Amino acid sequence: MQNISNEMRKSYKTIAVVPTMGYLHEGHCSLIRLAKETADFCITTLFVNPTQFAPNEDFEKYPRDFERDFNLAKTNGSDFLFNPSVEEMYPSGFSSEIKIKGITEKFEGKFRPLHFNGVATVVAKLFNATLPDFAIFGQKDYQQTLVIKQLVKDFNFPVSIVVAPTIREHDGLAMSSRNVYLSTTDRNKATILYKALNNVKEAIKKGTRKKEEIDDILKDTLLSLPEIQIDYASSALADSLNEPDYFESGQKIVLLLACKLGKTRLIDNMVITID
Ligand code: PAF
Repeated sequence: MQNISNEMRKSYKTIAVVPTMGYLHEGHCSLIRLAKETADFCITTLFVNPTQFAPNEDFEKYPRDFERDFNLAKTNGSDFLFNPSVEEMYPSGFSSEIKIKGITEKFEGKFRPLHFNGVATVVAKLFNATLPDFAIFGQKDYQQTLVIKQLVKDFNFPVSIVVAPTIREHDGLAMSSRNVYLSTTDRNKATILYKALNNVKEAIKKGTRKKEEIDDILKDTLLSLPEIQIDYASSALADSLNEPDYFESGQKIVLLLACKLGKTRLIDNMVITID
């Protein structure tokens, strides 16, 4: 992969990488199309990274369909699909791990303590393999985008990070490869996440500024489904994830949700600038 990327770079061509774990949906396809608008070449990476899953999580069960992914990547304009094996990425003797402090310690990091170490490490390896000028990530994994920006800054990767909007189903559910786990009933109920985000958006329009009130609207909306299990439903400053008691005019905030419906864990977020 490095040899191919080096050849492209020798002829002054730019490269955008779209890192994925496969089972591509319209969200991924929109990232691939954006990559092609941004750079001369698009490399899509397809690697279900074992180190970002805890032992009790869904690594084995994670949906996989190489043929489908290959065709979708190709038809949406990807020039290469980089699909290394676990042994190639983590050969025997592999002994490094990148740990980013601070931003990884709350929200998702609290519930999945080693998750972001796995993400930062694999993304660094994918950047070194594909040598991109740009890397395109979806806003759906909001905290992950902040972790990757920190990684790029701290380790001086010469890569520009582009964050593209979350793509939603017709009823507002954020697209995710994991949505296939939802039963039909839970699939219908899953729109509650988007409803919670929109309820806060409306409240902020009407003048709500207190973090506690915002978080209560998120939680109360989610808990209108008694069976939902909330991991977190919270608001924070969008760039730092700091949590002041009040948000002020001009501040960009992010609403972050993670909850379980049945056995399926769903995450979503919305970024809002306070008027
Ligand atoms: O967002 C994902 O699909 C993964 O976390 C990533 C960035 C491909 C790293 O494995």
